[in-house]
Amino acid sequence: MPADMRARLGPVELPNPVLAAAGCAGAGRELAQFVDVARVGAVISKSIMTEPRTGNPAPRLAETPSGLLNSVGLQGPGVDAFLQRDLPWLLSRGARVVVSIAGQTVREYGALASRLSDAAGVSAVEINLSCPNAEDAGCPFGLDPGIAGTVVAAVRGSLRRDVPVFAKLSPDVTDIVAVAGACLASGADGLSLINVLLGMAIDPATMRPALAGAYGGLSGPAIRPVAVRCVWQVREAFPGVPIIGTGGVRTGRDALELLLAGASMVGVGTAIIHDPSACSRVLRELEEELAAIGVDRVADIVGQAHSRAPRAPRGLAWRA
Ligand code: DHB
Repeated sequence: MPADMRARLGPVELPNPVLAAAGCAGAGRELAQFVDVARVGAVISKSIMTEPRTGNPAPRLAETPSGLLNSVGLQGPGVDAFLQRDLPWLLSRGARVVVSIAGQTVREYGALASRLSDAAGVSAVEINLSCPNAEDAGCPFGLDPGIAGTVVAAVRGSLRRDVPVFAKLSPDVTDIVAVAGACLASGADGLSLINVLLGMAIDPATMRPALAGAYGGLSGPAIRPVAVRCVWQVREAFPGVPIIGTGGVRTGRDALELLLAGASMVGVGTAIIHDPSACSRVLRELEEELAAIGVDRVADIVGQAHSRAPRAPRGLAWRA
């Protein structure tokens, strides 16, 4: 019998816990020729802002060992185009949609939340408090617990109560538990951990930064241990809070690691760029991992790495 893969995103039930993370699948259309978007747990949109935005100058990508640096700069069509074109398309395909939002001001985050309140079919809102590439948006909010909490409160206050709010946090802070706590105290229903780490590469041939914007966000397998650590720490502090674990997930085993650390859903991001079918492959591999250890319900393994109980032999522990 295959394991029961259902996961909960607030009031919405997902068929499985493997989500397309924000930023690597656009608004979902780009994935559709490779995967059935209705079979992805949920599609998290690239962060949308109020106005269309062209983003940063090129070059915007640089490869590093086990990672990718990007400096996209929140390129996007703006909320009107998203609501008129992208959201209806995703819903028509049977996808569950999480809308990621980014603002330049607390007021913009609130305004985006009000716009989304009027739209049917939004399963959750993810607040991007951690864009590394826009001095005017994202990151400045997520580095300080007080400001992060203010943004969350503005979004929560402007959004329909039945739409859950997840705050996506930066790992580039001294104490991620403090930022997580402030977001939860301000009304976040869950957390997305983690966004990229701020990084930089220099091209020896030109002796100049590889990215036009000099710095960029580091993603991919290189950051997975950081994601596991952050999920672990936040789960220790807030055991009941839903976490979308994101950061360098490439295989079903990687997804399993984040679930064991305490995530109840897992985002696949950078892996999509070289394997556009990564979400369905990771799901299949995760099902195989669970079958191999005899787990009946994926929900049962969430946070199991925290258990103080002595570890039983593989294959027996989960049935106990
Ligand atoms: C961008 C935003 C992000 O939140 C991120 O993690 C990486 C890149 C951007 O659009 O620049």
